[in-house]
Amino acid sequence: MALSAPEPLAVTHNVSEFSCGKPTLDHWLTTRALSNQQKGFTAVLVVHEAGRVVGYYGLAPTAIVPAILPRSIRTGQPPDPVPCLLLGQLATDEAWAGQGIGTGLVKHALQRCVQAAGLIGGRALMVNAVDEEAAEFWRRRGFIPSKDDTLVLFRSIADIAASLANF
Ligand SMILES: CC(C)(COP(=O)(O)OP(=O)(O)OC[C@H]1O[C@@H](n2cnc3c(N)ncnc32)[C@H](O)[C@@H]1OP(=O)(O)O)[C@@H](O)C(=O)NCCC(=O)NCCS
Repeated sequence: MALSAPEPLAVTHNVSEFSCGKPTLDHWLTTRALSNQQKGFTAVLVVHEAGRVVGYYGLAPTAIVPAILPRSIRTGQPPDPVPCLLLGQLATDEAWAGQGIGTGLVKHALQRCVQAAGLIGGRALMVNAVDEEAAEFWRRRGFIPSKDDTLVLFRSIADIAASLANF
């Protein structure tokens, strides 16, 4: 059975069996994702197999106090707060792990962020790592930990845009 391309989460998708090994990300998908999307808090994109969701991510606008940004992103005289984008969730069902779904979702999310920032602004993408293993996943992709919390990481939109050509 072929996997879908990433598409917005809808009521027709089956999320009830999703299990990525991190309960907070499973719980968010099964209990919060659809209502957050319907209310406009978060754009939730899913990959599915015959309707069953096997991977997803969540994107939202956010605003960050300059003091917590890495110096290279805070550079100049930024507004306070600094307009940013937030990748709050990213997960692949364990049954489909290691097949490139997570990498594909990251690329899709990064492309969306570059497009969105081109339309409305946004200095950096912030990611919330669920644990230290996830933080390492993001550091390998060029994200820099915040000054206060190693599980919150940033990468400038300009840096992301430049990297996408070589992704
Ligand atoms: C991280 C995650 C989305 C990767 O999904 P995937 O579809 O298996 O990813 P791919 O097949 O494209 O690539 C595997 C990559 O994930 C990494 N990975 C595998 N399991 C992981 C885990 N539990 N936590 C973090 N990274 C993991 C691999 O090291 C590899 O990274 P690399 O290319 O830098 O070496 C998936 O493991 C997951 O859902 N983990 C639990 C939630 C999580 O940690 N999310 C990350 C952001 S909070």
